[in-house]
Order: sequence, then C-alpha cells, then structure tokens
Amino acid sequence: MAPSNFSNFLLFMVLLVLHKQAIAEDGSIGYHGYERDALLALKAGFNNSFLDGNWTSIMCYMNETPYWYGIQCSNGRVTGIILDRMGLVGEIKVDALVNLTELETISFKDNSIAGNMMDFTYNQKLRNIDLSGNSFDGEIQLSLLNLNSLESLQLQDNKLEGLIPGFNQSSLNAFNVSYNNLSGAIPQTKALRSFGLSSYFGNKNLCGPPTPTACSATTNLSEPNSQNPGKKSSGNGRFTAILVVVNVIVLVVIMFLFIIYYKKYKKLKTEMKNVLVKYEEHDSKIVDRAMEKTTSEGEIRRKLVFVENNGTTNFELDDLLKASAEGLGKGIFGNCYKAKLDFGPVVIVKRLRDLKPLNGEEFVRQVRVIADQKHPNLLPLLAYYYSKDEKLFLYRFASNGNLYTRLHGGRGTGDRVRFLWSSRLAVARGVARALEHLHLNNQSETTAPHGDLKSSNVLIDENDEILVSDYGLASLIALPIAAQRMVSYKSTEYLSQKQISKKSDVWSYGVLLLELLTGRIPAHSAPPGTNGVDLSGWVHRAVREEWTAEIFDAEIAVQRGANQGMLRLLQIAIKCCDKSPEKRPEISQVLAEVEEIKVGGDSEDEEYPYSSFDRSLTDDSLSATPSLVVGDDRR
Ligand SMILES: *[C@@H]1O[C@H](CO)[C@@H](O)[C@H](O)[C@H]1NC(C)=O
Ligand SMILES: *[C@@H]1O[C@H](CO)[C@@H](O)[C@H](O)[C@H]1NC(C)=O
Ligand SMILES: *[C@@H]1O[C@H](CO)[C@@H](O)[C@H](O)[C@H]1NC(C)=O
Ligand SMILES: *[C@@H]1O[C@H](CO)[C@@H](O)[C@H](O)[C@H]1NC(C)=O
Ligand SMILES: *[C@@H]1O[C@H](CO)[C@@H](O)[C@H](O)[C@H]1NC(C)=O
Ligand SMILES: *[C@@H]1O[C@H](CO)[C@@H](O)[C@H](O)[C@H]1NC(C)=O
Ligand SMILES: *[C@@H]1O[C@H](CO)[C@@H](O)[C@H](O)[C@H]1NC(C)=O
Repeated sequence: MAPSNFSNFLLFMVLLVLHKQAIAEDGSIGYHGYERDALLALKAGFNNSFLDGNWTSIMCYMNETPYWYGIQCSNGRVTGIILDRMGLVGEIKVDALVNLTELETISFKDNSIAGNMMDFTYNQKLRNIDLSGNSFDGEIQLSLLNLNSLESLQLQDNKLEGLIPGFNQSSLNAFNVSYNNLSGAIPQTKALRSFGLSSYFGNKNLCGPPTPTACSATTNLSEPNSQNPGKKSSGNGRFTAILVVVNVIVLVVIMFLFIIYYKKYKKLKTEMKNVLVKYEEHDSKIVDRAMEKTTSEGEIRRKLVFVENNGTTNFELDDLLKASAEGLGKGIFGNCYKAKLDFGPVVIVKRLRDLKPLNGEEFVRQVRVIADQKHPNLLPLLAYYYSKDEKLFLYRFASNGNLYTRLHGGRGTGDRVRFLWSSRLAVARGVARALEHLHLNNQSETTAPHGDLKSSNVLIDENDEILVSDYGLASLIALPIAAQRMVSYKSTEYLSQKQISKKSDVWSYGVLLLELLTGRIPAHSAPPGTNGVDLSGWVHRAVREEWTAEIFDAEIAVQRGANQGMLRLLQIAIKCCDKSPEKRPEISQVLAEVEEIKVGGDSEDEEYPYSSFDRSLTDDSLSATPSLVVGDDRR
C-alpha cells in the first residue's frame, strides 16, 4: 500500500471505530434507568410516605403524562421536578442531579430540606430553579454561574451564607436571595443591577447598591468566586486570548479531518474493497497450496462432495477457487467467504478450524448427520470438502443478511429500515420451527442439537424466509473451543454443572426472543468490539422493578395494536430463560405458543415516532401471570 493510501486507511479505521462505539453506546441500557435511579435516590433522601407510594413502577413513557407525581417528561427523559409544599424533610445529595441532564425546571419550594445546594454542572438546560422556603445552608453553588439558559433563580428564605456570586446571564429575569445570611458587596454585573432591593431583603451583611449601605474599603467583593466571569476576563485577558486561539486551532483541525473524511469516503470504500479482495486472493492461494499438497499426496482429489444431487448445478473446487470471492469475516470456526461463480450461483464457503481429531470416515459420518437435517427454515448444507489440511462447508447464500445486522445495524443513522413487529414475529416462528425439527431428529439427551443459536446465525433470504444456520457443529468442533465460543456453553447449566442439553437450545432461543423484543445485544453473543448486556437479567430486573413499558424496542413499542402479542412473546421468552433447565418448556410447547400469537390488526400503519403506548401494557398484566414469578438471585 502506498503511504498516502495507508494513512487514508488508518483514518478510515479510526472513524470506523468511533462510529462503532457510538452504536455500542446507543445500544446499551440508555438514560431511563439512570434517570429513574436518580429520582429513586432523591426519594430515598426524603422519607416521604406519599412519594414512597407514588414513585413506583413506570416513571414516564415517551410523551405520555408521567406516572409519577411532580415529574415532567419529554421523550421519556425527565425535564422537570416540581415538589412544592410536600412537607419534605431531609437532604439532597450534592450529586443528585448529575444524571438528569435534560432538566429544565426544578422546584422544591416551601419544604424543610437542609444541607448544601446541589451541583448543577450537568444540568445545562435548567431555566427555572426554585429552592425558596427551605433550610439550605452553605454557600450559593458556583455551578449556577455557568447555566446559560437560567431565567429564574429563587433562593429566598433559606440559610445560605457567604458572598453572592457574579451572576451575569443575560437570560436571567427573576432573582431573589432575600432572607438568607449572605454578606459582602452585591456584584455590580449587568444582570444583577437589573434587580431591585426586594431581591436582597433580610441579609444583614450585604452592602452596595441597591442596598442603602455603602461598602467599606475592607468589604470583601466577590473575588473568592474564581468562576466569576467578570474577574476572569479583566485579569487574564492575555490568557483568555491564548485559550481562544487554541480553541480555534482545534476546531480547524477537526473540521479539516471531517472534510478529508467526507471527500475520501467513497474512494476509501473502494480501496477497502480492493484490500479485502487482495487479502482474499492471498488467502485462497493458501487454500490452493494446501489442496495442491493433498492432491500430490493422492489423499482425496480436488473434489467437492455435493450432499445431494438434486439438479442444482454442481461445480468443481477449481471453479470455486477461480470465483471472485469476498471475505465475510471471521466466524467462530474460521474464515467465511462469499464466492460468486462465473456461471451464476453465489455460495458461502466456511473454512472449518479447530476440529476434533476426526478421520475422514468419522468426519463424513458427522457431516451426513448435519446434511440430513432438511427443513424449510434450516440453511441447507450444499457441499463439503475434506482433506487433511483443509475442511470446507458450502452453503446457500442468503441475500438479505443475518438477523443481527437487521436488528442492530444502522441504528441512529438514515440507513435504518424499520424492523416491524410482524417481521420479528415471523423470525420467532421460523427459528422455533427449525429448532423443533432439530430437536425431534435428535435422541441424545446430552447435546444441544443446534448448539450455537444466536442472531448472527439466523439468516434472511431474498424472499424474507428465515434460515437458521450453523446447526450441529458441536459434533465437529473440539470441546475446549466449543465451550469457549458456542452459545449453549454459556448457559447456567454448563457454567455450573458442565452439562448441556436440548434445554440449552431453549435457553438460547429465549435470549434470541429477548433480543428481538428489546433490540438490545445479549452479552454472550455480542461480536468482538460491541458491548452486550445480560439480557435476561436486565429483563428480570425490569419486570421486578415494574418498568415494563421500557423493555420493548421503541421501533415496535409504537405499534400499539400489537402490544398484547409482544407481551405474550415476552412471557414465553422469560420462561425459556429460566435458570433451571427443568423448568424451561420443551421446544414443541414453545413453538405451539409462539404460533398462537397474532400479528395484531392494522398496527403497521402507525406513524413513527408514535407518542402513545397501550395502557394495558402495565405491570399488572405482567405480574398477574404466575409464570413470571422470578427468582431474586438474578441481580
Ligand atoms: C421516616 O419517617 C418515619 C415517620 O414518618 C420515621 O418513623 C422514620 O424513622 C423515618 N426514617 C428515616 C430513615 O428517617
Ligand atoms: C401518583 O400520583 C398522581 C397524582 O396524584 C396520580 O395521577 C398517579 O396515578 C400516581 N401514580 C402512582 C403510580 O400511584
Ligand atoms: C450516573 O450514571 C452513571 C452511569 O452513566 C452511574 O455510573 C453513576 O453512578 C450515576 N451517578 C449518580 C450520582 O447517580
Ligand atoms: C450568619 O453568618 C455568620 C458568618 O458569616 C455567622 O456568624 C452567623 O451565626 C450566621 N447567622 C445565622 C442566623 O445563621
Ligand atoms: C456581563 O454581561 C454583559 C453582556 O451581557 C457584558 O456587557 C458585561 O461586560 C458583563 N460583565 C459585567 C461585569 O457586567
Ligand atoms: C423575594 O422574596 C421575599 C421573601 O419571600 C419577598 O418579600 C420579595 O418580595 C421577593 N422579591 C422579589 C423581587 O420577588
Ligand atoms: C474576606 O475574605 C477573606 C479571605 O479572602 C476572609 O478571610 C475574611 O474573613 C473575609 N471577610 C469578610 C468580612 O467576609
């Protein structure tokens, strides 16, 4: 690669990584949980029986009227807390508001709250603050100086002491610090000069206009407030200028990077493709050499074995090696390629690595077992290749990608195509049917017939049919590798008793359903570089703490007509995820229940984002179901 190409490549990778991180952050738990936790902590500090009874279950859902007294919400985020004259006693922690970054209004007027004022550094959207009529003590928070949208600050009738900071926000149009124990000169900023004496009543030690008392020469001005903007700009003009210059330089550099990125983006994409193809050629030469070698050893001729001669065009390994190939990345068993043959068909080639030490005969027997599984929802094995050094599986190519990409890809970008409830339900059905077929055809009690069920192994073909892939590979892969990489070995029964069974597949299926319903990535099958969550733990917590409405992926939650169905599927998923395998249902029973779920009327027509949510989807409908009683050991 030429040096300039290489630097472009580096830049591209950096941006790619940044982009991926953004997606991962988006996909993690979200704000609701933290905001809710912050309010619960606030409630705990007050020991107020009304709030203890009222601030439970769902806090707010999108733009509906909040369920909690005194809370204002917008798009599910908390924008206001208004708890006037509630008889609140106790303290508010200084960091109580750090996670409530959308707050615009807070009012705790006329209670008996004591302690220092809270830190407002992270509440840049605050416009109205009313803490009047309490027992706040200590100094006025300097973080208030940096709230550039602040319109009204009411601090009268408290026990605040010290100096008045140099407020100078042009937005400030109401200000009252009367009846505290403030002292020193009133800062003569443009903003504060606009308020009359009645904003400063009852502070014996204040001086300067508008009070009648003149300040003596020894009176402290508001110097100690290092954040006083007036002071900073007059004393450190040169320093500020340097800061501005540095800022400008940084901005220019960032803009420059972005311009490069956008200009080169298309070019880079093609270059990346070339790199891939080169890598591919290199790689297939290795395959080639490996095969050359086996041929010379006369072990098996360069021949692909087609598992079924059903009229589809057969071809030779040579055709495959000549085909234009595209790397699809490293699957858990080795690299995976998409090969487009000259005369038409596109196939997926999987190189199998880390296999059990099987001889040719044993290998062929195991492959036969896999190949004999025929079901419309199973991705059929087309052909295989076996030599001492190289083992390949050939599969049909499913043109609409995999479920992982469909569910999580393009979120937060313009490329995202909504993944509607009806399609998700179709996935749930297709996978259950495939799994039932695998289970009925396997008598062993100590294997998981699929073994590696996860969203990246569920494919969607050109007719949107669901095709489950990578089944039965546990019989070929060496156990330590399988235990490291396959989903069924992440189940509780394997972790605690080193045992897997059909119920391990049922568990994987349950987690897959949760992934479909929540749009979140489960930790145990998250691809490298992405963050997943312990989905079943998360859902159990959500159900137990009764914030059910926040469970569902917003993309489907808005389809109101389908809420009953989603709830039904959630119940099934939770049963499948039971920690103890004996309590999980058989896959046939699961399939029967999933088949019963109705898509739900005209729900697909609704506008997005839709602001409302079916009222029936509250905690009652969930907790009324005995099957949802869950163990407390999940946390
Ligand atoms: C909470 O208030 C009740 C009376 O309303 C009182 O008995 C209890 O001790 C208080 N608890 C705390 C932790 O302050
Ligand atoms: C909380 O109180 C408000 C107003 O009194 C009421 O509308 C709301 O339903 C209550 N919420 C809960 C969960 O009790
Ligand atoms: C705020 O949220 C973060 C997670 O983003 C959490 O780790 C932290 O404990 C929270 N802080 C407070 C004071 O609630
Ligand atoms: C007011 O503050 C001064 C110190 O600035 C202190 O000596 C005095 O006790 C305070 N008065 C009240 C009523 O808190
Ligand atoms: C306060 O802000 C105004 C503009 O809003 C500015 O003209 C003034 O210099 C600032 N400082 C003081 C001490 O008033
Ligand atoms: C400030 O608060 C005091 C005490 O509540 C009140 O008497 C006064 O009128 C208020 N001043 C303004 C400007 O709101
Ligand atoms: C003035 O400020 C100094 C520290 O800067 C402090 O020691 C002194 O007590 C203050 N005087 C008054 C009257 O607040």
